[in-house]
Amino acid sequence: MSGNDSFISFFRPSIGKEEIREVTECLESGWLTTGKRSKQFETDFASYMGAKYAVAMNSCTAALHLALEAVGLKENEIVLVPAMTFAATAEVVRYFNAIPVLVDCNEDDFCMNMQDAAEILRRIKKGKKVKGLPEKHGRARAIIPVHFGGQVADVIEARKLCGEYDLKMVEDCAHCCPAYYKDEKGDWQMAGRSADIACFSFYANKTITTGEGGMALTDNEKWADRMRVMCLHGISKDAWKRFTKAGSWYYEITAPGFKYNMPDTAASIGIHQLKKADRFWEERKKISATFSERLSGIPGITLPVEKADRKHSWHLYPIRIDGKTVKTGRNEFIEKMKEYEIGTSVHYMPLHMHPYYKKNYGFKEKDFPTASKIFEQTMSLPLYPGLTEGEINRICEAVRKIAAL
Ligand SMILES: Cc1ncc(COP(=O)(O)O)c(C=O)c1O
Repeated sequence: MSGNDSFISFFRPSIGKEEIREVTECLESGWLTTGKRSKQFETDFASYMGAKYAVAMNSCTAALHLALEAVGLKENEIVLVPAMTFAATAEVVRYFNAIPVLVDCNEDDFCMNMQDAAEILRRIKKGKKVKGLPEKHGRARAIIPVHFGGQVADVIEARKLCGEYDLKMVEDCAHCCPAYYKDEKGDWQMAGRSADIACFSFYANKTITTGEGGMALTDNEKWADRMRVMCLHGISKDAWKRFTKAGSWYYEITAPGFKYNMPDTAASIGIHQLKKADRFWEERKKISATFSERLSGIPGITLPVEKADRKHSWHLYPIRIDGKTVKTGRNEFIEKMKEYEIGTSVHYMPLHMHPYYKKNYGFKEKDFPTASKIFEQTMSLPLYPGLTEGEINRICEAVRKIAAL
C-alpha cells in the first residue's frame, strides 16, 4: 500500500456505502460482538454455497484449526499439506503436535500434485521413509488441498485418496469465493463442496473481506456444533446469546476451547461483501482476461491458465518469469515494477524453504523441486475490482517493458 496516488497497490478492498451503513448501524445498535449479524452472515454464506452449516470465525486459520479439531486430529498423526501454500495451512497441524507432510505442486496450476500425494500415502502405509516424516508417527488422518490463487485443486483425486486411506478432507478455500470445478458427472460444483469441512478467508485482500475473518462450511451437524462450541471457549452451544434477552447467564465449559468468534462489526461488512461476490468475480474475470490477452506472447513470461474443467476465482494472477529468457530476474523485476509505481507480491515461498520447516523437518530446497522452481520465478500482479483501465494499461505496459530489457 502507498499514500502516493499514482502508486497501484497490490490490493485495494472494495468497500461500498452498504458496508459502511451496516457497520454504522451495528455500532449504533450497542451490540458489537457475535450476534444477529454474524448469524445472518453464516446463514447467507451457507445458502450461497449450498451447504447445510456455516460457522463464522475471526480468520480462516481459526477455521482450519477447528476443522482439524472437529475431525479428530491427534498428536503425531499425519496431515498432507501442499508445500506451495501460506503459513496457515501447515501451522494449524502443528497446533496439535501433529505432522504436516508436505506434497509438491503441479507445474500448471501450482496446486497439490495428487500423484505425489498418492505415492506418499502408499509409502506411509508400507512403513517406508517419507521426506520430513519422523520415525515415530501416527496414522495419516487428513489431507488439505489448497486451491492456489483460486483455481480448484484436483479434489476428485483427493477424495479418492480419502476413500482409499480413510482420510478426512479439509479444503483450504482461502482464495475461492467463488470458484467452481466439474465433478465426475460433468456438473459444476462450488469449491469447498467436496470437502468434509471447507475453510474460507475474509482477510483484507481476499475476494470478499470482513477485514479479518473466516468461515468453516460443512454438511455435518456434529462437526458444525463442535466448531461452534470450540470457537467460543468450549462453552455450551448458544453462549453468544448469554447477554441477550433470549439468553441466560448460565453456561457450562465442555472443553478447553478458543476465542475465535466473528464479531458483528466484521459480519456487517461480510453480509454486503457476499451480496457482491459474483459482481466482484465478474470484474476480476474481466481484468484477468485483459491481462491474458495483452501479456500473451512475451518471450520468457508464462501466464496463468484456467483449466477447461475449472472456473477460476482469479484471486491471484501469478505470472512466471523465466530468468533464462528474460534478463531481469524475478527479484529485480519486482523492484522495477516498484519503479513503475506498481505493487506486486510473491505467492509463495514454499513451506520447506522456511527456517522453521527446514530446522524441524530437515527439508532441502530440492525436496520439492516444482514448488522451489515456481517460487524462483513467480510474481503476482495486482488484480481486484476497481482497478481502472488506465491502471491495467500501466501494469501491462510495465511488464512488457521490463521483460524486454
Ligand atoms: C492459502 C491460505 N490459507 C489460509 C490463509 C489464512 O487466512 P486468514 O488470514 O483468514 O487466517 C491464507 C491467508 O492469506 C491463505 O492464503
